[in-house]
Amino acid sequence: MDIDQYFSSRRTVRRYTSKEVEPALLTRMLDEAAHAPNTGNMQLYSVIVTRSEEGKKRLAPLHFNQPSVTGCSVLLTFCIDVNRFNLWCKEGEADAAFDNLQMFLAGAIDASIFAQQFNTIAEMNGLGCCYLGTTAYNAPRIAEELKLPDGVVPLITLTVGYPDGESPLSDRLPVEAIIHEGEYRQYTGSQIREIYATQEARDDSRRFIAENGKSTLAQVFAEVRYPRATNEAFSKTLQEYLDATYLNRQK
Ligand SMILES: Cc1cc2nc3c(=O)[nH]c(=O)nc-3n(C[C@H](O)[C@H](O)[C@H](O)COP(=O)(O)O)c2cc1C
Repeated sequence: MDIDQYFSSRRTVRRYTSKEVEPALLTRMLDEAAHAPNTGNMQLYSVIVTRSEEGKKRLAPLHFNQPSVTGCSVLLTFCIDVNRFNLWCKEGEADAAFDNLQMFLAGAIDASIFAQQFNTIAEMNGLGCCYLGTTAYNAPRIAEELKLPDGVVPLITLTVGYPDGESPLSDRLPVEAIIHEGEYRQYTGSQIREIYATQEARDDSRRFIAENGKSTLAQVFAEVRYPRATNEAFSKTLQEYLDATYLNRQK
């Protein structure tokens, strides 16, 4: 692998061959990934490994039947985990206050960095991965399926396997668009249009607009892919689930 090219040429892989990701290789990669930076070295995360066909089939509908769930070799559900740390504090007769937003965020950051570190290591070992954001949408049902105790919240899933064919390379916004020197500078309307111009001009973008009967790509994102009603419904479910299993549970 050419390390110089790795980061700018990496891509999500959604189709896999039937070749298995060996358990020993997976454990080694997770062990390496766990060396990622994390909050106070508390490692506020856990990962649930799903290899069995039955396990994947049970999780598939909770990920809206995205084909990579049953098509991958192994499915990894990365979770925020303050349960393990709480138990350790209990053993150590310590007063732990981790059932709050601050520590939820710390766990989310730790779990995300761990997952991405794993993603990079897996890709460097010739594997392909796809994140599934559907984990957060159906967190309560995924938690039930994976028997997660209170204080353990499923955050993000990765499907992992050997790539079947080459996946397309996605482009990104021009780097100048995301850098603010010294302080944040607000964008003008014309700067915004310029920043998104390349993405809007692409054939697939034009196709999405036409297929969805919309007039701009922004409408496809905001009104079709991530519409208000869905965002608000998933937020409500997540809030209720966190209230019941995570936030302010020690009181
Ligand atoms: C938090 C998160 C959630 C994602 N959810 C999904 C998903 O549910 N299904 C999917 O096919 N890809 C998903 N992706 C992958 C993105 O679509 C992909 O990273 C993005 O389009 C850029 O493409 P690239 O990774 O090939 O560069 C997700 C990525 C992230 C980071």
